[in-house]
Amino acid sequence: FPVAVVLPAGGSGERTGLSTPKQFCTFLTRPLISYTIQAFERVPWIERIVVVVAKESHSLMTDIVEKFNHAKVKIVHGGSTRHRSIFCGLQAFAETDESLLHKPKVVIIHDAVRPFVEEDFLHKITMAAKEQGASGAMRPLVSTVIATTSEGYLDHSLERAKYRASEMPQGFLYDIIYQAYQRCSESDFEFGTECLHLALHYCGTNAKLIEGPPTLWKVTYKRDLAAAEAVVKETLS
Ligand code: CTP
Ligand code: MG
Repeated sequence: FPVAVVLPAGGSGERTGLSTPKQFCTFLTRPLISYTIQAFERVPWIERIVVVVAKESHSLMTDIVEKFNHAKVKIVHGGSTRHRSIFCGLQAFAETDESLLHKPKVVIIHDAVRPFVEEDFLHKITMAAKEQGASGAMRPLVSTVIATTSEGYLDHSLERAKYRASEMPQGFLYDIIYQAYQRCSESDFEFGTECLHLALHYCGTNAKLIEGPPTLWKVTYKRDLAAAEAVVKETLS
């Protein structure tokens, strides 16, 4: 069955404090996003990768695709929030007059700044999405989650062992996640954090969570860029 990927890469990476968006920072010879794309291109059963970038990054992304010969990639323009960008990516497969690509059965959504995803885990996510409607990666929590009062005092804390951190990739039947994004509100687009939540809330699907390997971490801060570079060097040496 056809499987495609949407890679949101339309952010500006404010938390790194750098002027270049983190997905375009170069390690050894390639920009970070090229390693992420490569991880998906190596998987023979993945047909298409829709990379969603800000309009102003279009020519940079085109250069990367040409230079590193990313044959499965289609570039589309994103929006002002991560959810708007993901919706732009999903729309590339929608059966409209402007539709660019064939509709997949399962779509995997993954952040462009999580370069170390591997085929066996993608396979688990894809099969669970096909059977259950939606699936996602989770990891044990590193820190305890607390709620504070408006004055900054401890209100309550959650029992860490009962909770998990939600990570990417997440997988969906295409029809379900596209419908969820069509139904979701402006506030979901603006403040929402979780694709799985939208699928559950608007389409009532099952959402199967699978514990993923530690390599699924996301590059968020400047120190994560250094750590990613170290992993790249280690795996290539
Ligand atoms: N993203 C996107 N479109 C946006 C915002 C984010 O496609 N308008 C993408 C980012 O490029 C990244 C992924 O969503 O691949 C995860 O988001 P995050 O780590 O928050 O990246 P940024 O928003 O770029 O970073 P920051 O929040 O620090 O500004
Ligand atoms: Mg962000």
